[in-house]
Amino acid sequence: MWVNRIELTDFRNFRHVAIELAKGLNLFLGLNAQGKTNLLESVYAASTGGSYRAARDADMIRWGQPLFRIQLQVQRSLGPVRLELSVSASGRRLARVNGSRRVRPSELSDYLNVVMFTPDHLNLVKGPPSERRRFLDVEISQVSPAYRSWLETYNKALAQRNALLKQMGQGRFSVKTDPSAEGQLLRAWDQQLVGAGARITVRRAQVVLDLSGRARDAHRRIAGDEAELALVYRPSVECPEGGVEEVAEAFRLRLAQLRQAELTRGVTLAGPHRDDFRFELDGVDLGAFGSQGQQRSAVLALKLAEVDFITERVSERPVLLLDDVLSELDAGRRIRLMELVESGCQALLTSVEPGCVGLMPDGARVFAIAHGEVSDNGSSFGGCAPGIHLPAGPHDAAEGLHGDPRVEPGDRAQLEGEVHGDDGEGEGAVRDG
Ligand SMILES: Nc1ncnc2c1ncn2[C@@H]1O[C@H](COP(=O)(O)OP(=O)(O)OP(=O)(O)O)[C@@H](O)[C@H]1O
Ligand SMILES: [Mg+2]
Repeated sequence: MWVNRIELTDFRNFRHVAIELAKGLNLFLGLNAQGKTNLLESVYAASTGGSYRAARDADMIRWGQPLFRIQLQVQRSLGPVRLELSVSASGRRLARVNGSRRVRPSELSDYLNVVMFTPDHLNLVKGPPSERRRFLDVEISQVSPAYRSWLETYNKALAQRNALLKQMGQGRFSVKTDPSAEGQLLRAWDQQLVGAGARITVRRAQVVLDLSGRARDAHRRIAGDEAELALVYRPSVECPEGGVEEVAEAFRLRLAQLRQAELTRGVTLAGPHRDDFRFELDGVDLGAFGSQGQQRSAVLALKLAEVDFITERVSERPVLLLDDVLSELDAGRRIRLMELVESGCQALLTSVEPGCVGLMPDGARVFAIAHGEVSDNGSSFGGCAPGIHLPAGPHDAAEGLHGDPRVEPGDRAQLEGEVHGDDGEGEGAVRDG
């Protein structure tokens, strides 16, 4: 699959841009703070339904504007599909496929799959467990609608259960002997939590194992040594080799053991929201003991594994979003990455260094980004650096605050009505991933 057109309206620092992409490699060159990462973020959001870095979706709206809109044209083996995601200042999200069909924002990944790679991804190895959980959730959600719905059920049950625990804890009574309405309610939430939680745990275990094998092979190629990379799942509810029923039973047991502590602390102390996985090189935890280079190779191996994993599940190659990674990688790792592109993945790549144009394969397309404007640097070229024009100069902050003549006022008003209306997805809706 590949994205052949991106149109952004009031997204981050883009007032309005429309870009036609090449099927292979697309390089976006620009100085710092011009909009390179924002552009990749827009494609990511149109695939997953949200940002990988914004605290709130509304943070992606251009300052002072009521909403943003991302429109992508995606080419799939079965034909083209148009995707659209809009978010209003209140956080209401609206997603559409082919202009008219409304879908849940998380369902956009049924039409477009992406694998994102940024220098921040070293945090996958050495950052907090929440980073790795998010990675797994986004990864699995991209290929499994069932997983998305379990996550949604789980997150809802978790939030309700935590609120109830807090309330009951303040009342200071033991739920074991309590026949009250609260006690019964808690048991009802337990059931939902355990049902969805066990399925999530089992699926995560399968996927980590699958990714681990693929990452091990990729790592051998990247690092060129014998050390063995492994991803090791560390679920909050341990149940070696268990199926859904066994994990559910273990989960129930764990909650019973923890009940008094949960009432005291007012939070749920076991479940997939406390899972983790570890990167190990020959059994050594890379997060705690790995060198920068080892961590980098491990993340790159995981990204290559991710591409493999998605390709196998959806029978098409995902789109690669590579934010400023070339400068991070040494020559060998760069070559591995470029091999992926040459193997048929479309890639959107950003860089501040015009010099990296020389690394691009034949047919790559080069764009310049400056002050939220994107200019196509002309046609594709074959390997030698063309005279890239990088517009410079002070950013006129006021410039973007006027309406864009290319966006029809009626069009904008209609969209505003829809995205602010009652039947879009509510602000409080539980988000996948
Ligand atoms: N919601 C928003 N509205 C308007 N501008 C925004 C918004 N969010 C971020 N920006 C601005 O967009 C600009 C470009 O950000 P971006 O992260 O895309 O830069 P970049 O080109 O990737 O730079 P670097 O090379 O430093 O990574 C920044 O100056 C930032 O302040
Ligand atoms: Mg950036």
